[in-house]
Amino acid sequence: MTHPAVPLCDILGQYQALQPEIDAAVLRVLASGQAILGPEVAAFERELADYCGAKFGLGCGSGTDALLLALHGLDIGPGDEVILPPFTFFATLGSILRVGATPVFADIDPLTFNIDPDQIEKKITRKTKAIMPVHLFGQCADMEPIEQLAGQFGLHVIEDAAQSFGSCYERRKCGTLGVVSCFSFYPSKNIGTLGDAGAVTTNDEAVYKKMVALRNHGSEVKYFHKYVGWNARLDAIHAAILRVKLPHTEEWIAGRREAAKRYDALIEEYRLHGVFHRPTVKPYGRHTFNQYVVRVAPHDRDAMVAHLKKEGVGCEIYYPLSLHQQECVKHMGFKEGDYPHSEAAAKAVLALPMFPEITEQQQRRVMDVCASYMRQSVKLVA
Ligand SMILES: Cc1ncc(COP(=O)(O)O)c(C=O)c1O
Repeated sequence: MTHPAVPLCDILGQYQALQPEIDAAVLRVLASGQAILGPEVAAFERELADYCGAKFGLGCGSGTDALLLALHGLDIGPGDEVILPPFTFFATLGSILRVGATPVFADIDPLTFNIDPDQIEKKITRKTKAIMPVHLFGQCADMEPIEQLAGQFGLHVIEDAAQSFGSCYERRKCGTLGVVSCFSFYPSKNIGTLGDAGAVTTNDEAVYKKMVALRNHGSEVKYFHKYVGWNARLDAIHAAILRVKLPHTEEWIAGRREAAKRYDALIEEYRLHGVFHRPTVKPYGRHTFNQYVVRVAPHDRDAMVAHLKKEGVGCEIYYPLSLHQQECVKHMGFKEGDYPHSEAAAKAVLALPMFPEITEQQQRRVMDVCASYMRQSVKLVA
């Protein structure tokens, strides 16, 4: 019997469910003739800021642009140090390097995969300008001690909330947990468009105004350039698509959280709890499960990935190499062993299929395939 494939995330399914509204929104933009900025982008920015509870929202071309806008908007550049975790998507590091600042890593909490606040203080120097916590996989970093350190040492907090739209720390939503908060609307994110898009939110009017200019070549008045900005604009078509999707955020987050609960129970039911270390959910916030990431014994991980893929089950390794070990930062002199928790996570993590509409049947199929891998590997050992 052949089983239907289970995708890692179902972008097409979500489009099909909303197709009439999304198509109408795209056609509305095409018919308006206003494809660059304009009313769709402005309306999305208001709706985004309202959802997050922030004063200002600003759409941009991607999550990477959002990080660059935040760093440039806060005048961070050469000679400045920014503290970040080594276990995150490359853009967190890349944006710091691209503004000419110096990245300083603080290792992660091995259970949540987020930056460990206890590792931060010893990394602060006179050159430190900002801390950039990443809310990985949908769970907020532990913000209270980070905010305390930032206050004590006069540092900016820039949230990389690319994977955590709608997540909360205590009762505060992502988008209000830093002086600038950065989002990605890449298709697989909690809300994603059908292309690239991102946004920043802030309560700081001066920084907001600077980022508005930076997004459009640093210009407040057309053809007069106050700053060296670039083209970081959000396309109106993507703003229109995101306006269709934004009202579904809570329902989709509920779907992801339900699916995570089901995985937790199924791992138990299939007696895979000795194989998978389930995600650690901190009581301080709302995890939105952009990804459901388990930890597997490193000697099993890659073979299990190959088996899942062979059986038509989507999976991914976020991320296979800690950032301090990437080729492009070799010249910075980091060594193996510098960030042991990040290095260990890179060898053990495995993301299972996760999207709001995933069914119990699909999740059982994932578990069946994982269990069949375990049976096969036990036989091989015997
Ligand atoms: C943690 C993190 N930061 C930044 C980004 C960059 O976002 P984008 O791909 O929209 O540029 C991503 C995207 O995957 C991300 O996961």
